[in-house]
Amino acid sequence: MAVLEIDGVSKHFGGVAAVNRVSLALEAGRIYGLIGPNGSGKTTLFNCITGLDRRDAGRVLFNGERIDGLAPYRIARKGIGRTFQVTRVFPELTALENLLVVTRGSVGDAERRALELLRFVRLEGLRNEFAGNLSYGQQKLVEFVRVLMREPSLILLDEPAAGVNRTLLNDLLEAVRRLRDEGKTVLLVEHDMKVVMGLCETVFVLDYGEKIAEGPPGLIQADERVIEAYFGR
Ligand SMILES: Nc1ncnc2c1ncn2[C@@H]1O[C@H](COP(=O)(O)OP(=O)(O)OP(=O)(O)O)[C@@H](O)[C@H]1O
Ligand SMILES: [Mg+2]
Repeated sequence: MAVLEIDGVSKHFGGVAAVNRVSLALEAGRIYGLIGPNGSGKTTLFNCITGLDRRDAGRVLFNGERIDGLAPYRIARKGIGRTFQVTRVFPELTALENLLVVTRGSVGDAERRALELLRFVRLEGLRNEFAGNLSYGQQKLVEFVRVLMREPSLILLDEPAAGVNRTLLNDLLEAVRRLRDEGKTVLLVEHDMKVVMGLCETVFVLDYGEKIAEGPPGLIQADERVIEAYFGR
């Protein structure tokens, strides 16, 4: 059974079909890519999955259960975590506190988990630094591990590598692979084809809100429709 199944999902803004009858399915323990030119609907599709945008049509199933129509916090609690294209850290909280803000339950357990996650992306030495003083790439890593505090089984990453330097990027890619090895499912929006090629087993391509291709990254790169979408106008 698919972890996530998107079935004919559409979302319009006025006359614009931001997402147009998109269907796709994700299996557990794999890393998927979502690519497409600017404005092709990638972030809107994430918003339809996580409940931030209410879809106009179609169904979203998580572990076989309909989640379209649920409030974002309920979808998050079911085990879907996401990052945002524009990083959202609290600049006046420390790196550690940025992770603790999303916790419920025992503080001691949360702190242990937060420190473990900061270590996971090699930021434990900066745990008491204000997030606002961290580099852009470090802030993105903090946001990434904050998503992991609630142990989601499906993780949606919206351009996690954009603006991240090479060293931090390697830490991030390594962390994503380890999540996959733990059985988690990852769907990431990414413009850097090298990152997509190195990480993803299957890639979905959007153009004007429609899915125009799906397959292994090597084939996708050579696909006529994909090349046309990126370079043909
Ligand atoms: N809240 C909104 N109100 C009106 N139009 C929107 C809204 N959100 C997205 N759109 C439009 O929907 C389309 C898809 O936008 P979206 O942000 O999903 O694209 P994207 O693929 O994530 O682009 P990018 O690569 O630039 O991040 C665009 O035409 C955009 O202008
Ligand atoms: Mg976007």
